[in-house]
Amino acid sequence: MSMCRSNVQVTGANKGIGFAIVRALCKQLDNGIVYLTARNEERGREAVAKLSQEGLQPKYHQLDVTDRASVSKLRDFLKETHGGLDILVNNAAVAFKMEATDPFGIQATVTLATNFTALLEVSRALLPLVRPHGRIVNVASMSGPYAFKKMSQEVKGRFQAVRTEQDVEQLMKEFVDCANAGDHMSKGWPNSAYGTSKMGVIALTRVQAADIAKDKTKEDVLITCCCPGYVDTDMTSHKGSLTIDEGAVTPVYLALLPTGSSDYNGKMFSEKAVTNFW
Ligand SMILES: NC(=O)c1ccc[n+]([C@@H]2O[C@H](COP(=O)([O-])OP(=O)(O)OC[C@H]3O[C@@H](n4cnc5c(N)ncnc54)[C@H](OP(=O)(O)O)[C@@H]3O)[C@@H](O)[C@H]2O)c1
Repeated sequence: MSMCRSNVQVTGANKGIGFAIVRALCKQLDNGIVYLTARNEERGREAVAKLSQEGLQPKYHQLDVTDRASVSKLRDFLKETHGGLDILVNNAAVAFKMEATDPFGIQATVTLATNFTALLEVSRALLPLVRPHGRIVNVASMSGPYAFKKMSQEVKGRFQAVRTEQDVEQLMKEFVDCANAGDHMSKGWPNSAYGTSKMGVIALTRVQAADIAKDKTKEDVLITCCCPGYVDTDMTSHKGSLTIDEGAVTPVYLALLPTGSSDYNGKMFSEKAVTNFW
């Protein structure tokens, strides 16, 4: 990694764990260009200024992961300005609060759109630009395995059988349709939109990793996913026990996996170790 200037992109990085991932990568990559991306320019530039005060030099680029035009702009910028990228951390996500009163169908629609569909669209746009030895880290959650445990045998079996991105998309679409119809539980789905979205990310990671392993232009490119732990951020209403820097440890470890780590391709990690739950 230190031989050439690695280009790094972190999504949803203006605060929380994404911000700490940018901080750690700025410190640990001696020859990298680290982009702190955020949907809101003001919040993004403020975050960059904060890290600048610490003597770090991240750059800002706008990215709303749910906005196709925004994703295309970043892709074109990377192509034209840097010719590609080396590390992508898909960190941006949303979670409704426990006390939210929005109907479950709305919660499922909104949560899946950001946490699953937008992550998939960002990957579809940027993966073609990832250079050999690149690392893609999808930030999932242990809520994914927890949601998986709550699924019926039939739904579990369908997750285990996924082979293509479309297979995972179809499962996520069915969950949202059931959530809107109000029969997701009788159809064998868990009662968690967030957990299901993260199980979707875990399943997608497995499929993306298998695809990239077959692609001859993507030598030693690895795609992994992880849980950062229970972290003190806005998402957890600051109830998490880990600091954001502690939460960044596993995602950063995966972003910097050395050559020879192909056994890890497609795997889900927690505390820097593989979790084999499905
Ligand atoms: N905290 C935990 O304990 C925990 C546990 C397991 C997994 N995770 C995962 O860790 C990741 C980071 O979570 P966090 O706790 O740091 O959450 P957070 O403090 O709420 O930060 C979430 C970040 O995502 C951004 N974001 C949301 N929607 C976006 C969009 N459409 N486009 C671009 N950025 C968007 C937010 O930007 P705005 O400021 O503009 O809203 C914010 O920067 C998430 O994937 C989360 O699911 C967290």
